[in-house]
Amino acid sequence: MPNQNDNQHDNNAENQKLTWYEKFSHPLEYRGLRFTIYTTIAILIGGLVEIPPFFLQGNVQKIASVKPYSALELAGRDVYQSEGCFYCHTQMIRPFKWETDRWDINREYGAEPYSKAGEYVYDHPFLWGSKRTGPDLSHEASLQPSAAWHKAHLINPREMVPTSIMPAYPWLFEKPIKADEVVARMNALKTIGVPYSDDELKNAPAEVEGKTQGDALVAYLLKLGRDTKGK
Ligand code: HEC
Repeated sequence: MPNQNDNQHDNNAENQKLTWYEKFSHPLEYRGLRFTIYTTIAILIGGLVEIPPFFLQGNVQKIASVKPYSALELAGRDVYQSEGCFYCHTQMIRPFKWETDRWDINREYGAEPYSKAGEYVYDHPFLWGSKRTGPDLSHEASLQPSAAWHKAHLINPREMVPTSIMPAYPWLFEKPIKADEVVARMNALKTIGVPYSDDELKNAPAEVEGKTQGDALVAYLLKLGRDTKGK
């Protein structure tokens, strides 16, 4: 029986064109160790070129209107993370017409209403998500600006959207916020460059005083897209 490769070459004119390449590739592919070493060197060179720009601050164009999260919003961001909202929701509008049309229905975010790197400078970690079981939330502040709507929706999504499959989170509006945890989080963020002032740190416990985790989550949702709206 003829070798399968030969057979393919005979039958496929397209493959014929690549036979010259096999003179280089076959000797490499048949020497596993040498091939591994060469590929490792190639990847290391690629890494040397690609990794440093990752740390260059100048690569991210700052947006002056984007401000750090307040103490209450930050507490809400923690709830968003611990409840895994990002498993069903993204926070990134890609530069495609069908996305920008959908998430900036009223053209409130300028001529290029997709998400920019500068919008995420205070996000540690990013909560971009990758699955849209629910809608993207990047512009939630303008798509649904009512805190009362968000509260009712989180307590029972079916009440606001009868066909909704989103889980209900009623208990969040009974759980208090731990002020010392929020202050610790703000201090940690400050050490990695989020510009919280001493006043903001001092006032944080008063800001979350008497508020529930649900209130914080609503505050967080109303921060999404607020800073870049109309800019
Ligand atoms: C199982 C998937 C799922 C999870 C988990 C989930 N959602 Fe949803 N979410 C949805 C779906 C589906 C919708 C669309 C129907 C609706 O509005 O209820 C939605 C809608 C929303 C909306 C309304 C968006 C709009 O503009 O209409 C908000 C706000 C929201 N979710 C926030 C959250 C938050 C906050 C959490 C975490 C506490 C969360 N979701 C968890 C699936 C999910």
